Amino acid sequence: MAGLSLLQQPLRCAPSGGRLLARDCEWRADTGTGNGTASGKVRIESRRARVCRREFSVARSCASIEVQERRNGAGDRELSSAGEENSGVADFYGSGGGRGVGADSDIPLLEALANCAAQDAASFHFPGHRRGRGAPSRMLETVGHGAFAHDLPELPELDNLFSPDGVIAEAQAKAAELFGADATFFLVNGSTCGIQASVMATCRPGDFLILPRNCHLSATSAMVLSGALPKYVVPLYDRRWGIAHGVSPLSIHTAITEVKAQGGRVGAVLVVSPTYFGVCSSIDAVAKVCHDNGVPLIVDEAHGAHFRFHEDLPESALEQGADIAVQSTHKVLGSLTQSSMLHVRGARVSQEVLGRCLQMVQSTSPSYLLLSSLDAARAQMSEGGQFGRTRGSDSRLDRALVYARNARERLKAIPSLSVMDEDTIDSSESLPGLDPLRITLDLRGLSIDGYEVDDILRLEFGVIAELPALQTITFAVSLGSCERDIDMLVDAFVALSSRYTSSGTDGATMPPQDQDQLFNSSILPLPSARGLSPRNAFFSKTVKVDVADSVGKICAELVCPYPPGIPVIRPGEVISEDAISYLRRIVKNGDYDQCFDFNFFRLGQ
Ligand SMILES: Cc1ncc(COP(=O)(O)O)c(C=O)c1O
Repeated sequence: MAGLSLLQQPLRCAPSGGRLLARDCEWRADTGTGNGTASGKVRIESRRARVCRREFSVARSCASIEVQERRNGAGDRELSSAGEENSGVADFYGSGGGRGVGADSDIPLLEALANCAAQDAASFHFPGHRRGRGAPSRMLETVGHGAFAHDLPELPELDNLFSPDGVIAEAQAKAAELFGADATFFLVNGSTCGIQASVMATCRPGDFLILPRNCHLSATSAMVLSGALPKYVVPLYDRRWGIAHGVSPLSIHTAITEVKAQGGRVGAVLVVSPTYFGVCSSIDAVAKVCHDNGVPLIVDEAHGAHFRFHEDLPESALEQGADIAVQSTHKVLGSLTQSSMLHVRGARVSQEVLGRCLQMVQSTSPSYLLLSSLDAARAQMSEGGQFGRTRGSDSRLDRALVYARNARERLKAIPSLSVMDEDTIDSSESLPGLDPLRITLDLRGLSIDGYEVDDILRLEFGVIAELPALQTITFAVSLGSCERDIDMLVDAFVALSSRYTSSGTDGATMPPQDQDQLFNSSILPLPSARGLSPRNAFFSKTVKVDVADSVGKICAELVCPYPPGIPVIRPGEVISEDAISYLRRIVKNGDYDQCFDFNFFRLGQ
């Protein structure tokens, strides 16, 4: 920080804390216990002091605090003219009771939130429900008072997501340590915003982003936002399963070489690993290709936040050399929906630029329920020595793995079903890794497709899948799974199998030619030729045309059945016959009417 260090008049504060008004100052506290002094830094952004956690812990027991202010010209005068700097005594909130923010806490953000929620304050801040008192009663009854009481804004004690130096900074640092990152950013808009920010931080307008065709739609919005141009890599298609898997290091190498040969600049490579189906790419080999070419590697690890915590799971992307890994902590670990983490390692991507980009794609009112759930999920994974792959046999992940193994064995034994694993995946390359907690079933032995299976499972058997598709259905086993869930899943398929195979009573087996057709039409269409950049197409003047007239024209929007959220046509692409017939097929079979308007496409003019 620029500026002279000057001694400010000592501010005295009462043992229970006080309001400290100064700006960018360092502090030294006499603990009053004969243990000497402690020191730290206070950053103040608003009229209220933003107090870091360590300061509070001292403040609770100290006799006095001396503040040494680094005077910073204008900032000082502002404060002086407001006459505030010496006004305060003690409001390091909380007058005792419970573990304070400052206690050497394992879950700093969650504990700070709990302390704030426990305050009996006359609050005049947002949100308007005012800690539940003004909440809609039906909502209150349904989700409980606790959710509202803890739905607090960026109070000084709760730090600030975009320039953290208190409990958020501490929680993020703990996460970085656990996940093996140099820095971790908490995300309140899912991995979606992490991927957007990662691309924005690495690709300038006109740079190429190398990415697989089967990447999540957030990669497309990232290109619209950043102005990056796509260079698609065709992922390894599994004809047996009708599913796209990972990318080969060779395909990435070829793509980088082609872009460079044409005089383009590669801003970054973005790889999805694991896929929705749990299939991993060889991230270590892809990272080497990228780094040899001076290109950062972003891994969309939305489905792999748990990888680091068990030796029976594939290695995490960061462990294999990725520069950025974006993880949906909420998908398999225990945080709340929408909460994710972005981990960064090494110097290829600037943490500062990443922070700035994240600020553009996240709310300025981040939910502390989401943020603290990330802190708690991190703490949960730190328990019991799980970190460092030394967890005990009773860990939740161990249990989940046992359940998943059990389910796989029992499902494999059911006639007319097969389970995706190393033996059934049709891969021309050796399979670098498969998440054993993701169970995908091949349903072609049944006379009904995945969407019908999904309906029957849900309505008749009370079993809810993660991802139905035409010929497959995918289930996610996670920390919260239990034995009863597995029994219900297996029992349901025992019943379905006897009902919907040729030997069953209700159903007839689908004729082989229909099965072939189903199989072929479910393969994701190959990339169509690019007509415009995603950004130009997205912002161009458009007209709506009937689907029947759309082939050969440039699409201005994202056409994307969700789940799995893998776009079929992206902005800027020429619409192909293949893409239309694929979409017709899934609209007919799936329940997608709400997800996109299939009757009309908006076309760039
Ligand atoms: C592969 C992949 N990446 C990214 C995302 C986006 O994650 P989030 O829902 O946390 O924004 C998803 C969501 O399903 C996904 O499947």
